[in-house]
Amino acid sequence: MKFTVITILPELIEPALTAGVVGRAREAGLISVEAINPRDFTTDRHRTVDDTPYGGGPGMVMKPEPLLAAIAAGSRAVAVADGPPRTAGPHRILMTPAGAPLTQARVRELSALPHVLLVCGRYEGIDERVIELAIDEQLSIGDYVLSGGELAALVVIDAVARFVPGVLGEATSVDDESHSAGLLEYPQYTRPLKLVVATSDPAAASEPAAAKPPAAPGDLAAAGEPAAPGEPAAPASHDVPAILTSGNHAAIASWRRRQAIERTAQRRPDLFARFRATPADRKLVGPALHARAHLALVHHPVIDRTGAVITTALTNFDIHDLARSSLTYGLAGYHIVTPITSQRDKAAHIARLWIDDAQGEHRARALRLVRTAASIAEVVEALTVEHGIAPVVVVTSARAASFPAVPRRSPSALVAEARANPAPLLILLGTGWGLAEALIPSVSRMLTPIEGASEWNHLSVRSAGAVLLDRLFGSGSTI
Ligand code: ADE
Repeated sequence: MKFTVITILPELIEPALTAGVVGRAREAGLISVEAINPRDFTTDRHRTVDDTPYGGGPGMVMKPEPLLAAIAAGSRAVAVADGPPRTAGPHRILMTPAGAPLTQARVRELSALPHVLLVCGRYEGIDERVIELAIDEQLSIGDYVLSGGELAALVVIDAVARFVPGVLGEATSVDDESHSAGLLEYPQYTRPLKLVVATSDPAAASEPAAAKPPAAPGDLAAAGEPAAPGEPAAPASHDVPAILTSGNHAAIASWRRRQAIERTAQRRPDLFARFRATPADRKLVGPALHARAHLALVHHPVIDRTGAVITTALTNFDIHDLARSSLTYGLAGYHIVTPITSQRDKAAHIARLWIDDAQGEHRARALRLVRTAASIAEVVEALTVEHGIAPVVVVTSARAASFPAVPRRSPSALVAEARANPAPLLILLGTGWGLAEALIPSVSRMLTPIEGASEWNHLSVRSAGAVLLDRLFGSGSTI
């Protein structure tokens, strides 16, 4: 496979490609890398490659003519190795922070091409006409700005070269890595079995074995140095997880898969949201989050339009519709919270009417989720007994400023966090003008408010509940 790099700083490219996997691949003739300098295609005495932007503004823009000439020089067709004899021009990529994010899936696709030409911008960017005339794709290596595209081009070369047949020793190793299956990679360990490290941090010393990654080889602390001047270091042993030395290959594979899933859930909610768990995965990671999640429709303490704390009356639709939403998204329970005994009796009565309806078994299943409680504290207590661990209480609000001291979570971030915590989830929906903040001390998270497409934001609690359940537990949002 051939890479051509168009750059005004070719001296940045060569040294980075002489060692390691890429260096060996070049030596073995599996990949070749050529750098072409647009300065070599200038016609003026100063070999000028940049100029001021039309319309004003800071910085300089790369001139089109030298860049186009350099791209043309690097676009000589190369012979395609597989299939019937033919030649092909390069696939021309501009490295720019405004490009599409580079992914492992795209890297794999690029590795199937015979020739990739990478254009590195410098200054404020390149003349847009170069992109229109001579660029097939624009790629970014992340949401930050480098001083030029050279390091980004090197990243592409390194990542793509690893997929070129023969470059990596073992054919399977690319498939096991982070991102190849949409998951981060499981943790790796090597000798020694017991790593004794000196630390003055009592928390670190008492941490369970293998909870932290092992120290890097050559780490001074690992060699027994005191962690802080004058303080004696307390040695702590960090062991390799026993499963990895068990010799049970199936159990090791399961452990690794579970670690990969849990890491991805904790660290990369964005990736995790796209991950599709197999039935075997579901067995590994335990009951899905929705199966230990509860919804509570709170009638007290809530506020009215003046901010006064009130108790709202039941709404028949809310009982019925949110019960159906709760079952659709697989929740463990739906709690109607009101301190008024006759209202709780009424809620139970309404649920029973549907449950007893001989014609409506599908609805009966949903209404069986309905439970009543006199207070939020009562629900928390009941769930603590039921699940053996206190629930994480999550509030919802239409106002971003509500519960100012409570950490905010987007639905995907909440799911990722809650997946890694065995506690049940209790999601509070306020009636009236919302939950009375000062009277709900048990709250530990607030879901970011739902935002529609207009400035008018008055969803009914049934609708808001359904939208939130879909964002939290709908297909594509969790496992
Ligand atoms: N050039 C400058 N910053 C870049 C980035 N983040 N990705 C690709 N090319 C770049």
